[in-house]
Amino acid sequence: MLETANGSQNTFEDDVIDGLSQVQKTIPCRWLYDERGSELFEEITVLPEYYPTRTETGILSQYAVEIADHVGPHATVVEYGAGASVKTRILIDALEEVSTYIPVDISAEFLQTSAASLQKDYPNLDIEPVVADFLSTVDLPEKSAEGARVGFFPGSTIGNLESSEITGFMQRAREDLGAGAQFVLGADLKKDPNILIPAYDDSAGITSEFNLNLLRRINGELDANFDVASFNHEARWNDHDARIEMHLVSERDQSVEISGKTFDFRQGETVHTENSRKFEIDVLKKLIGQCGWQMADSWVDEDSLFSVLLFKAI
Ligand code: AVJ
Repeated sequence: MLETANGSQNTFEDDVIDGLSQVQKTIPCRWLYDERGSELFEEITVLPEYYPTRTETGILSQYAVEIADHVGPHATVVEYGAGASVKTRILIDALEEVSTYIPVDISAEFLQTSAASLQKDYPNLDIEPVVADFLSTVDLPEKSAEGARVGFFPGSTIGNLESSEITGFMQRAREDLGAGAQFVLGADLKKDPNILIPAYDDSAGITSEFNLNLLRRINGELDANFDVASFNHEARWNDHDARIEMHLVSERDQSVEISGKTFDFRQGETVHTENSRKFEIDVLKKLIGQCGWQMADSWVDEDSLFSVLLFKAI
């Protein structure tokens, strides 16, 4: 039933070779999530310093009734990326008689496991997983007669994207979800770097492991010889671009062989491995407002750490 979709995306090897050939070495963040990386990310979500997951979950629970009032009964929920998390269950529980749940993810294996676990708890829910890269076009199953389609993109994964990627994604989502669609978006908010930095450089060292795992993955999957112990995790606040950046910093001058090519690292040189943008609600309202959506509501926690935004198709 499910096949692996890779769309127009490059292979791991291409992305690593191309990315490490640039002046600022960089590797796209989606390669952080192999099996070990996904496990480490799950550990991150429960760290005391990592506020986003528990804060977003709290907002969704607290305002579930308001969200449900907007969406109405018999909706089809289309979740972009991952899926079947605690947050999915909160949304499905809140909405009145969800007709269909469509998780969209690049990993067929992940979709199958998470869909099976959700089906156990919701035996009557129609679950129709779609294997796709949500940054490309997503072929959704036929629209059922009643109820709106509601896009769901929690976790502030939107913070990984450049503005042009956000507008591209939201325009396509608007087209794919069709007339009457709504969209529930989780977005992390700008705040004091003294809160942000520890969230991405925790005292237990889990985020460091998560970042360094990328070098282990390169060693394991591509013919490479990174001395992982000579790289350090760094979480950096880039004020100009309002984002946390993850970097891997070389402790010393060194050369690394990858697939028969040599890459030189100066002492202190970094590989940029992730952007996690922090937003002002107005910025997203304007940006997504250009994509056929109108912001209809927004909710934040009492400390204004995180936001859940609701858009309606116009
Ligand atoms: C999954 C992209 C939302 O940016 O907070 C967590 C990833 N990286 N700690 C985030 C992440 C380091 C996370 N997102």
